[in-house]
Amino acid sequence: MRAALLTAGGSPLEIVDDIDVEEPRANEVLIRVSNCGICHSDTTVQDGGYSVPTILGHEASGTVEMLGSGVTHLAVGDHVVLTPLAPCGHCAGCARHEATECGEALSFASNARPDGSTPFSRGGNPVWRGLGVGAFAEFTVLPASGAVRIEPDIPLDVACVIGCAVQTGVGAVFNTAEVERGATVVVMGLGGLGAAIVSGAAVAGASRIIASDPAEGRRETASSLGATDLIDPTSDDLVSTVMDLTGGQGADYAFDAVGSAALVEQGINSTRVGGTTVMVGASPIEESLTIGAAVLFMTMQKRLLGCLLGACWPSRDIPLMLDLWRTGRLDLERFISHRLPLTDVNDGIAKLHATDGVRTVLDIAG
Ligand SMILES: NC(=O)c1ccc[n+]([C@@H]2O[C@H](COP(=O)([O-])OP(=O)(O)OC[C@H]3O[C@@H](n4cnc5c(N)ncnc54)[C@H](O)[C@@H]3O)[C@@H](O)[C@H]2O)c1
Ligand SMILES: [Zn+2]
Ligand SMILES: [Zn+2]
Repeated sequence: MRAALLTAGGSPLEIVDDIDVEEPRANEVLIRVSNCGICHSDTTVQDGGYSVPTILGHEASGTVEMLGSGVTHLAVGDHVVLTPLAPCGHCAGCARHEATECGEALSFASNARPDGSTPFSRGGNPVWRGLGVGAFAEFTVLPASGAVRIEPDIPLDVACVIGCAVQTGVGAVFNTAEVERGATVVVMGLGGLGAAIVSGAAVAGASRIIASDPAEGRRETASSLGATDLIDPTSDDLVSTVMDLTGGQGADYAFDAVGSAALVEQGINSTRVGGTTVMVGASPIEESLTIGAAVLFMTMQKRLLGCLLGACWPSRDIPLMLDLWRTGRLDLERFISHRLPLTDVNDGIAKLHATDGVRTVLDIAG
């Protein structure tokens, strides 16, 4: 099959036509990939080159092509949204309905099955399944619990952005922070992740959504999704602007959707006494936080929360998010600024780095 292959850290992806894909094992499915969004996390893996060769792409939709034994909740031909964290269904995390705490699902970071194998190969050598999905490719094989059936009338090119950006962003608001009606919310970074956080906060009924990004076009999109106040961090100081906008109190919630320890600190400093900062962005592994713990966490009772994939339980949250889209409350089409064929994946990655548009979606067959 055809795929975009990362062969060395930091290098452009290579379009190749000679990837072999295994038939699904027990409790797995073979998916014909329809569409895949390009997320910043793909580029983090690309630039790190942790394991190569790898097929990146983890924000995908497609059609079930073949079922492994034991799969009963899907049928060949079903339309599905794929998720990077497929819950095993039987560990302690899954018993709590916390898919993002499932030990088996968390092995996604190794770009392989829990037993170390991968469904892809090239010339007999393993090719890794990037971020648990590997969807910059015509087909992928993944655990059946990582494929969530959607209604056949939902456009697959729109639904794919649920796989990562929307699960993570809307989930960060609903599941991690549990933003309540009337809350004041700060969102730093307005790529696919930040746009989804702004949308989720609007659905949750936030009274004020203060959105910050140096990219003017992204601020404009955030405004159309419900942001009430816009900050250009290259000219305005975030913390003092948030203080001004909230009557000197600070915001109830701040979300880092950039991936920077310095911005997490700004989030903590821009929230009120008892306020909550959520770290959604993936800051570089070598960055640490320096926090005046006694004042900020004891006296001021602030909270700092981690967030992986919006703490979503895929079969519960993906249909919920599609209902929000169907009823006009989640404008997924507005996230999707560019549509490109798989062969133009490097152009899409360049657009992400240039903050050109919000999300580029690849048409895998196109
Ligand atoms: N927690 C998770 O499960 C999860 C899931 C997916 C992605 N991520 C991470 O979330 C982050 C965002 O992903 P994305 O795909 O939206 O990325 P993106 O590159 O499309 O967007 C990042 C945005 O941050 C903006 N930015 C840069 N510096 C800023 C500053 N000082 N203040 C405000 N904004 C600033 C950029 O202009 C850009 O618009 C990445 O770190 C990604 O790896 C985390
Ligand atoms: Zn992602
Ligand atoms: Zn589990």
